[in-house]
Amino acid sequence: MTAPLHVAITGAAGQIGYAMTFRIASGEIFGAHRPVVLHLIEVPPVMPALDGVHMELDDCAFPTLAGVEKYDSDHLEQAFANCNWVLLVGSVPRKQGMERSDLIRINGPIFTNTGKAINAAAAKDVRVVVVGNPCNTNCLIAMSHAPDVPKDRWFAMTRLDQNRAQAQLAQKAGRPVAAVSNLAIWGNHSATQYPDFVNAKIDGRPVTEVITDHAWLKGDFISTVQQRGAAVIKARGASSAASAANACLDTVKSIITPTPAGSCASAAVFTDGKYGIDAGLMCGLPISSDGENWRVLDGFHIDDFSRSAIQKTVDELKQERDTVKDLLP
Ligand code: LMR
Repeated sequence: MTAPLHVAITGAAGQIGYAMTFRIASGEIFGAHRPVVLHLIEVPPVMPALDGVHMELDDCAFPTLAGVEKYDSDHLEQAFANCNWVLLVGSVPRKQGMERSDLIRINGPIFTNTGKAINAAAAKDVRVVVVGNPCNTNCLIAMSHAPDVPKDRWFAMTRLDQNRAQAQLAQKAGRPVAAVSNLAIWGNHSATQYPDFVNAKIDGRPVTEVITDHAWLKGDFISTVQQRGAAVIKARGASSAASAANACLDTVKSIITPTPAGSCASAAVFTDGKYGIDAGLMCGLPISSDGENWRVLDGFHIDDFSRSAIQKTVDELKQERDTVKDLLP
């Protein structure tokens, strides 16, 4: 019998956590033959709701679910003990009229203890995906408090933006979403992010050849993707949940599954100066995985339009890093 994977989820009874938990337990993410033990984490007042999630997990009778452990967020070291994956969802969501960066002084401090607990207790091969906003900078905070966990194990979620951008391009081109590939999101998961239509493809052809309305590509396409989270909040009265959960799981899948040739996955990862982007940030970049290891893809064409868009979002990341410098050791 294969040893179970231990997967921790913070905010596990919240809308995003709830949407993710059952898909992980079902075997969809790590495979039908890989048992998982879920470590479900919530703030103390929400622990009764977590009992309800646990009951429902039992009631699904998933053959791949090898165990459920519940922890309150005052006991993070126990919660993360031996975890191979840590999905950091728990955080205060933004409300209508806010930018994600408005949450930085509210959510940022949560991630210092989180990073320390991961450092102290998680499995040697732990990988971490941050969903709680502002996710890039929260990830930077957690990572900086976990000096023993290699920096290539940390990811912040720009996959939701990739998925949104793919859907917009597919609809404009009148093609299925699966026809869109190589879609990179550069920078911050924020209103400055740059969804890169220059390198993206539809049916293997450059998007700029298939969609000849370049004013739309440079205008409404980008702003729709940048503002999609706010549009969902306005429509639902609450921030995205199922699509955010889906994007977190897509992030995990794209790290553990080989990336198709000629394409990329989008995730925010720690920068080392590649593409002229300042080192020491968590920045959305095009990545590729062989199923074991991932790397930042080389060779993306950066024209003047892209360069200026990338610079703007990188500048915002630098500004966020400055805002939380007291939280960085
Ligand atoms: C999203 O993009 O939908 C999430 O990051 C939630 C938000 O605040 O926009």
